[in-house]
Amino acid sequence: MNTGGGDIMANLAGLREISLAHRHIDDACALVAEAGWNETPDDWRLMIAHGDAIGFEDGTGRLIAAALGLPYGRQFGWISMVLVTAARRRRGLATYLLDACIAGHEAAGRVPVLDATPAGEKVYIGLGFKHHFTIQRWQCPHPGTPDSDNGGIRPIAAADIGQIIDFDRAIFGGDRAAILRDIATRSGTLGWVRTDGSGYLMSRAGRLARQLGPLCAEHDDAARALVAAALAHIDEPLFIDVPDHHTGLIEMLSQRGFTAQRPFTRMLKGKPPGFGDPARIYALAGPELG
Ligand SMILES: CC(C)(COP(=O)(O)OP(=O)(O)OC[C@H]1O[C@@H](n2cnc3c(N)ncnc32)[C@H](O)[C@@H]1OP(=O)(O)O)[C@@H](O)C(=O)NCCC(=O)NCCS
Repeated sequence: MNTGGGDIMANLAGLREISLAHRHIDDACALVAEAGWNETPDDWRLMIAHGDAIGFEDGTGRLIAAALGLPYGRQFGWISMVLVTAARRRRGLATYLLDACIAGHEAAGRVPVLDATPAGEKVYIGLGFKHHFTIQRWQCPHPGTPDSDNGGIRPIAAADIGQIIDFDRAIFGGDRAAILRDIATRSGTLGWVRTDGSGYLMSRAGRLARQLGPLCAEHDDAARALVAAALAHIDEPLFIDVPDHHTGLIEMLSQRGFTAQRPFTRMLKGKPPGFGDPARIYALAGPELG
């Protein structure tokens, strides 16, 4: 095992390795706030329910580090929420938790995939992850503007979800059925589909800003029309995580007042040919969910 910062056994003294349960959600949200991330208690509920969320508690029972492995079907598994409180960094805790998440996926035959922050990337490269493509988080404080022509788009209905899950699986590359069902049924979630079946977009509440995404579409026109529909309805701070190769959508966001906030890199361990169809992935559900 790669032990990161020195003698891992000494660094783990006084810490308790745990599986996260609902009682950890407040502490997990405190780690998110410390890192300046956007995940909410609802996101943690979803991730704890469908994934293996693990971490360390200190002697007082406070959660001081976390990581998540999320199965996305039989071939791929997501890794995210790798968080270590500032006072406990550079002691190998992230590496230890990541090793456990990776081992869980690989034992089940799943290739680990993740969206790394620049800080996380340094850890993942050391663990054998390779770059796939780059992503930028775009933000806008007040995006709402009246929209002219938005034909061919309607709000997502409950009856659409099965079709959206199939469409998403073909484009995203893994099976996010449980995730999409959870997001679609949350209060506050908004969503739109193209009536010709060429795309869908969901948007849910975030800690700092509403998250726009996932957005999967057959082509640029469909993606831009879905974003225009969302911008016509939403007048609150927004984040959207867009792969850097989608220059058309990025140009539209820039014209609408969005600015670049922070980069991510999609990385895979052990499967060089890639994951999903990046040409049709226009926005992530967030780096925590892909
Ligand atoms: C990224 C993060 C999880 C790393 O946690 P950590 O417990 O400090 O990581 P580790 O001690 O296991 O580090 C393993 C190795 O990664 C590298 N590394 C980790 N942080 C680094 C940094 N800031 N700069 C350069 N290298 C770094 C080093 O090689 C380190 O080993 P070393 O300390 O012996 O040189 C932590 O800094 C953090 O929570 N950051 C904010 C949230 C975040 O960005 N998470 C990653 C999401 S993808």
